[in-house]
Amino acid sequence: MFEQQPDTIREKVRQLAAAALENSQPSGWFEILYQEAKGDPTQVPWVKLTPHPYFQDWLKSYPPQPEGKLGLILGCGLGDDAEALAAKGFQVTAFDISPTAIAWCRERFPESGVNYLVADLFNLPREWEQKFDFVLECRNIQSLPLSVRSQIITEIAKAVAPEGTLLVITRLRDREPEGDSPPWALSNIELAQFQELGFQEIGRDVFYNNEPNSVKEVRIEYLRIGT
Ligand SMILES: C[S@@+](CC[C@H](N)C(=O)[O-])C[C@H]1O[C@@H](n2cnc3c(N)ncnc32)[C@H](O)[C@@H]1O
Repeated sequence: MFEQQPDTIREKVRQLAAAALENSQPSGWFEILYQEAKGDPTQVPWVKLTPHPYFQDWLKSYPPQPEGKLGLILGCGLGDDAEALAAKGFQVTAFDISPTAIAWCRERFPESGVNYLVADLFNLPREWEQKFDFVLECRNIQSLPLSVRSQIITEIAKAVAPEGTLLVITRLRDREPEGDSPPWALSNIELAQFQELGFQEIGRDVFYNNEPNSVKEVRIEYLRIGT
């Protein structure tokens, strides 16, 4: 998120996020950003119009799925990860808090079998509990402040079916996060909550991107054990 972004967009994100946090609406700025992009993807810092490379790479070794497997993409942005998962045979639901982003997905992929929806991670539909065989959390938690981490992780965990897979792609921090602007990397202590909620970590890959501060990112595969 935000790699090689022009300073103007970084500053805009900083201001929008700060105002939203002041109003205790941590997700309140995303719709404004998508709306003000006016259909120009270069105005949305995380948008690359392609699946996230760590997800794409992970999918390569993931076998095509038998019919009927359900996938969920959290905070789907403009839909590229959802389309990649659908291409593996999953029946995919993809949601975002931003109605503009969801309308954009539908416009980009008019023939898609993905069910694109507006929904709120903080208040997922009850009928989604333990429903999905595969859930992707890619860079959403890190865009929300530390004060809501535990709540978000609890919500995400609920959506995964027993024996289901949860894939998390995020920045990882070793120290307290710096700065008043997202992204706010996760710590291993925060991630450990998934284990407390019944997930087993079955794979972890660590990546270092080229930013000056050498940001550490991880891709973690969890399996939901038990109920
Ligand atoms: C940093 S972007 C990441 C988008 C995408 N997952 C990716 O990796 O490219 C965070 C996304 O989460 C969405 N989002 C933020 N808060 C949300 C919430 N409470 N419920 C659902 N989506 C949310 C935003 O609109 C945005 O599309």
